[in-house]
Amino acid sequence: MLRLDKMLAHMGYGTRNEIKKLMRRGAVTVDGETVKSPELKVDPEASRVFVGAELVRYREFIYLMMNKPAGVVSAVRDEAQETVVDLLERAYRIFHPFPVGRLDKDTEGLLFLTNDGQLGHRLLSPKKQVDKIYIAEITEPVGESDVAAFAEGIPLDDGICLPAGLRIPGEDPRRAEVTLREGRYHQVKRMFQSRGKEVLYLKRVAMGGVPLDESLNPGEYRELTPEELRILS
Ligand code: URA
Repeated sequence: MLRLDKMLAHMGYGTRNEIKKLMRRGAVTVDGETVKSPELKVDPEASRVFVGAELVRYREFIYLMMNKPAGVVSAVRDEAQETVVDLLERAYRIFHPFPVGRLDKDTEGLLFLTNDGQLGHRLLSPKKQVDKIYIAEITEPVGESDVAAFAEGIPLDDGICLPAGLRIPGEDPRRAEVTLREGRYHQVKRMFQSRGKEVLYLKRVAMGGVPLDESLNPGEYRELTPEELRILS
């Protein structure tokens, strides 16, 4: 059971004070009765709460996948730059979602956003070694020695990387698929740099066994399906 004003505040209907005023005006009904007491306890799953003509569909958590475009930062807010959360419509922003991990400003592709701290933590915990798959376009062709070096563990200035997968998924040896089980700063770019190659374009295509929905254009997002959420949980 949850206090009515708390539930409505969580759902973005205003501050507790604003909600109190709404209720005094008779704008809020619970199971058909006008309610004026903000401290009334309701069952958020079962009670039918209306604000005006709008049925309040309560839920605690939201889970989104975004095809992050280049040019926005993976943060909740930023003084100067557009963030991935700025791209969300208000109906989702009211849940205070955060991006699960970071992609560089110029990296595109799969980014989960949620307000479920536990799921975020599970996906990012170094202990879980969640798989992240990237497509990288690079300046030089990838060779067998690069594949072996990635599998061995590339030494970087912050320590040796965990063994990583590297393969060429198509015809072009300058277009590589990289599988990481960790997430260090600029990791893919630095791994290629250590092999004398520059990354020109980077896109994450899967994380934790869930692939990017390729029907999402850069900047678009959708809620995760129950099956995707099951895979991640
Ligand atoms: N590795 C990088 O270098 N950049 C990213 O955005 C993600 C992984």
